[in-house]
Amino acid sequence: EKQGFKHFMLKEIHEQPGVVRTSLDAYFNPAESTESPINLGLPADLYTDLEQIQIVACGTSWHAALIGKYLIEQLAGISTQVHYASEYRYAPSPVTANTLIIGVTQSGETADTLAALAMEKERRQGKEPKYQARLLGITNRPESSLGHLVPHIISTLAGIEISVAGTKTFTAQLMAFYALALDLAARRQTVSKEILEKIINGLRQIPKEIEATLESQERLTEHLAHEFAETQDFIFIGRGINFPIALEGALKLKEISYIHAEGYPAGEMKHGPIALLDAKVPVVAIAIPGSVYEKVISNAQEAKARDSRLIGVTPVNDGEAAEIFNDLLPVSHVEELLSPILTVVPLQLLAYHIAARRGLDVDQPRNLAKSVTVE
Ligand code: F6R
Repeated sequence: EKQGFKHFMLKEIHEQPGVVRTSLDAYFNPAESTESPINLGLPADLYTDLEQIQIVACGTSWHAALIGKYLIEQLAGISTQVHYASEYRYAPSPVTANTLIIGVTQSGETADTLAALAMEKERRQGKEPKYQARLLGITNRPESSLGHLVPHIISTLAGIEISVAGTKTFTAQLMAFYALALDLAARRQTVSKEILEKIINGLRQIPKEIEATLESQERLTEHLAHEFAETQDFIFIGRGINFPIALEGALKLKEISYIHAEGYPAGEMKHGPIALLDAKVPVVAIAIPGSVYEKVISNAQEAKARDSRLIGVTPVNDGEAAEIFNDLLPVSHVEELLSPILTVVPLQLLAYHIAARRGLDVDQPRNLAKSVTVE
């Protein structure tokens, strides 16, 4: 069943190019089609007059939601908030008429996410029908409890994921958010047809770029894992659309290798966490050319000045990047907006190889379950 891979997690990491291809085929119409380029099968009135979006999720799904927020706000211009489901259910945002609530859960069974959505559904009883219907689920299991709870679903197309640590389901969630943000942008005409096409064409290149990354990273991350098997703390930094990837890289490492790791928006380091840094604490920086590249490089420099070993997840291998990074985990050059689907891959592999090197039960980490059905 593992098809020659040592663990399900590694197999599932390698399935990601296929997951992106399947999602592209399902969510986007062929380039020559005369219909709208995006096809999520959602009714138009779900979107009419939308003023804001609230997203509830936990764990890795919450990280995907943060990228979703970035995409929806930057592409479609709709103000979006992301909440931990466990917090939202006890302190929900005020009800307003034109708010869409989205629950993201790969399993469709996470108790906190279901409870937050059930609470929201209840709050909306007695309001006008359009408003009651503004609940959307994003899940890998449309047949799950979530599927029964909300009127609208975007199915993510990862196939069953066995490893407890989510990898391909995260990528599938990102694909759902690209499609949703682009659908909203197309309907609201917040981006031009040309830009829309450019982004979709860029997405179509992603599967082969992930393949290239997987091929080049397997040995590099395994080699690095050897050096970091005994490391006690890790810091991951990123900015903008790659800040949630720093969180996700840290979460993957914590979950399966039991190494303490923190993800930070790079600009926040100097407001406290930089005090942790010394030669024993490596820093992984995600540095993608675009709106915040120079900023991330200068934040990385600040870490270097505290003797941290610096690992760069970047397509750049010359100039400042070559000078400051001790180790490079190269990814292909892609648009900043599309980069999270690529930058997450070396971080998944790094976590995997460190855990495997430590001889741990990668697919069944201690204290964790695939779906958390208790509060
Ligand atoms: C991360 C992980 C957890 C889940 C979280 C939410 O690798 O497995 O953090 O992401 O428990 O699960 P779902 O998406 O099923 O609601």
